Amino acid sequence: MSEHKTIDMAAIQMLDRAKEIGFLTTFDRAKAQEPRCTFGNTGICCRICLQGPCRILPKKPGGNKGICGAADYTIVARNTVRYIAGGAAAHSDHGREIAEVLLSVAEGRVHDYKVTDADKLVKVAKKIGIETEGREVMAICKDVATAALAEFGRVDETKELTWINAYTNEERLNIWRKTAIMPSGINLSLAKLLHQTHIGVDSDPVNIIFGGLKAALCDIDGQHLATDLSDILFGTGVPVVTEANLGAIKEDKVNIALHGHNPLLSQMVVKAAKELQDEAKAAGATGINLVGICCTGNEVLTREGVAIATNFATQELAIMTGAMDAMVVDVQCIMPTLRSAAECFHTKIVTTMPIMKIPGSYHFAFDEHHAVDSAKEIIRLAIDAYKNRDKAKVCIPNIRNKVVAGFTLEAMYNIFAKVNPENPIRVIVDAIEAGEIKGVAALIGCNNLKGTHDHNHTTIAKELAKNDVLLIATGCSAQAHALAGMMNGDAVKEYAGEGLKKFYARLNAVAGLTEELPLMFHMGSCVDNSRCQDLATALATEMGVDYAQVPYVVSAPEAMSEKAVAIGSWNVAYGNPTHVGVIAPTVGSQLVNDVVTKIAEDVFGGFFFWETDPVKASERMVEILEERNWKNAMRK
Ligand code: SF4
Ligand code: FE2
Repeated sequence: MSEHKTIDMAAIQMLDRAKEIGFLTTFDRAKAQEPRCTFGNTGICCRICLQGPCRILPKKPGGNKGICGAADYTIVARNTVRYIAGGAAAHSDHGREIAEVLLSVAEGRVHDYKVTDADKLVKVAKKIGIETEGREVMAICKDVATAALAEFGRVDETKELTWINAYTNEERLNIWRKTAIMPSGINLSLAKLLHQTHIGVDSDPVNIIFGGLKAALCDIDGQHLATDLSDILFGTGVPVVTEANLGAIKEDKVNIALHGHNPLLSQMVVKAAKELQDEAKAAGATGINLVGICCTGNEVLTREGVAIATNFATQELAIMTGAMDAMVVDVQCIMPTLRSAAECFHTKIVTTMPIMKIPGSYHFAFDEHHAVDSAKEIIRLAIDAYKNRDKAKVCIPNIRNKVVAGFTLEAMYNIFAKVNPENPIRVIVDAIEAGEIKGVAALIGCNNLKGTHDHNHTTIAKELAKNDVLLIATGCSAQAHALAGMMNGDAVKEYAGEGLKKFYARLNAVAGLTEELPLMFHMGSCVDNSRCQDLATALATEMGVDYAQVPYVVSAPEAMSEKAVAIGSWNVAYGNPTHVGVIAPTVGSQLVNDVVTKIAEDVFGGFFFWETDPVKASERMVEILEERNWKNAMRK
């Protein structure tokens, strides 16, 4: 048995290799951080002003508050919502970048990008109230891009964010209005939240949390427009068959990893790679092989069928194979140590966004006017690196699993429509009402090395599937299942309960795909959690109930990033029970912890719960789904 904290056999091989060559990975660094500081771990360390850090020392006279007088509940609430601000800023800024490019397309200022999915453009335009009848595609495109950009700078607080207003049921919007968390502008809400949590401003933990929820709604707004506009620019994913794990890296090819979150340049790399295959062959390779890591990987998987190399915690290990010629990174979840890992090999690390640089790496600043040219330069850099690859150092784990992915909501509806053409969502509702499945669980989020890499993700998926819960997945969670060989039809046979098997059998009989449907529908990247919420909205609408009554749960089994805190928070505001598989840094204040785990349910119907044991967490999720079903039956 390996000493390493991962369940991924390929990762174990590469961690042994890292040890041999003396490279310290994130797994070593996680160990070095033990034991954790209890103050930080529970959220009662404040670093908001320069008098700090202040910690809560209840037994010391004067130590039960910060120097300014902030109590534990103020400190914990402020720290928590500042995570949300960071996450919402990241997701929405990603959306803004896409909107800027869409506007350039509409105004004819760029040639490398175009409207790929005009149907989606019209659908989004109609949804957000833009006239489409008899209008040119580019005129509609300009209005949609302008509406997206208007979400950021709006300061008129009598107006509401367009996207969440359009995509959320009225009853829920009214709850947000009543609780004063409905945002007007993204920048405004995030700036206000940072102001609210400055030293000497808000000390009321409930008011601070509501400010945080407003920011969290900006997060889903930014996510939703990022998903929509990416679909318009690059196409809405359809089912794809590919493979996952480090074995997707090919010894005889020029290997390029696409890593990060923003698809703007990576899509161009995919395009350029098709054109430059011959240059790779001239260098002695059999071609160019693209693989994905984290959500840029999920974006190009969903739209282009690019294989998954690995997920967040194991990103350094892709370089340990000795066959990674270039790793192209954009923003979010990229370890600065990739460059140090690359120094042990011939790998080139290429950063592509002005706000994300790693000292010593190559930087090709993203420029929408020359995106394909940059992509070609990057590929040529990788081809050059390939020529310097030391064959003696190549060691690729022989592990790869079949992956069936690409399930945007539209792709899922296309399949459901084969059973019920008039009302595709009815297929899930019928199965819930017949007791065939207990409900839907969205498995989302990151890796967190406070636990064992991918253990919580995969255990929860197996437990829920066994209990007839229909699974959808995004982000590094989706990748965990793919790496473990659970994202294919064989996994349905192995892990699904009888009801879920029947549900899948009915769909497989009509789906018309070359492969059987997988154990979980991979709905895309982290910003594509908007697709998951659209599914929840469709279920609420079809069942004729509020979100808080839908048998729908969310789990972030290994949550890590600020973005995960933001995502979890808007899920709670939507009424979704949300499991987190690490103990959140809210436990330092009983009051704040009770607000987010108990009182939230009275207000929103959704709530957080922390459970590090994946089996216990699954049991609780099944109970929640059953309770919601039972209540729905009583209402009829
Ligand atoms: Fe300490 Fe208050 Fe400053 Fe926080 S804001 S570091 S509690 S003095
Ligand atoms: Fe992500």
